[in-house]
Amino acid sequence: MIEALRRALPAGQRFHSERFSPPPIRGGRPFTVRIVGGPDVAVPADRTALDAVRALRPDVPYSCRQGFCGTCHVRLVEGTTVGDPAGPGLTALCVGRATDGTIVVDLGR
Ligand code: FES
Repeated sequence: MIEALRRALPAGQRFHSERFSPPPIRGGRPFTVRIVGGPDVAVPADRTALDAVRALRPDVPYSCRQGFCGTCHVRLVEGTTVGDPAGPGLTALCVGRATDGTIVVDLGR
């Protein structure tokens, strides 16, 4: 849509747009997300928990993929995370990563 609008503008017309994308995963380590009620989901070093969980549970909602909108925040039942802006007792599946190999989450569904 942005490209269509850009092409439709008169020559020389200024146009400002921004593209948003998730930050790259740097130095990630694999971990496991244990979903209450199952299953366990393996998260590779180069993928987010959100992507790994959605491969099995495509109904898990998301929006920004950057940790700030709160759409993917779920209850953190057990374990600790890093890089996680969600509040106490929660984790942002899109950016939070387990510190000790496994986290347990409740998807609430
Ligand atoms: S998708 Fe927005 S916080 Fe995770």
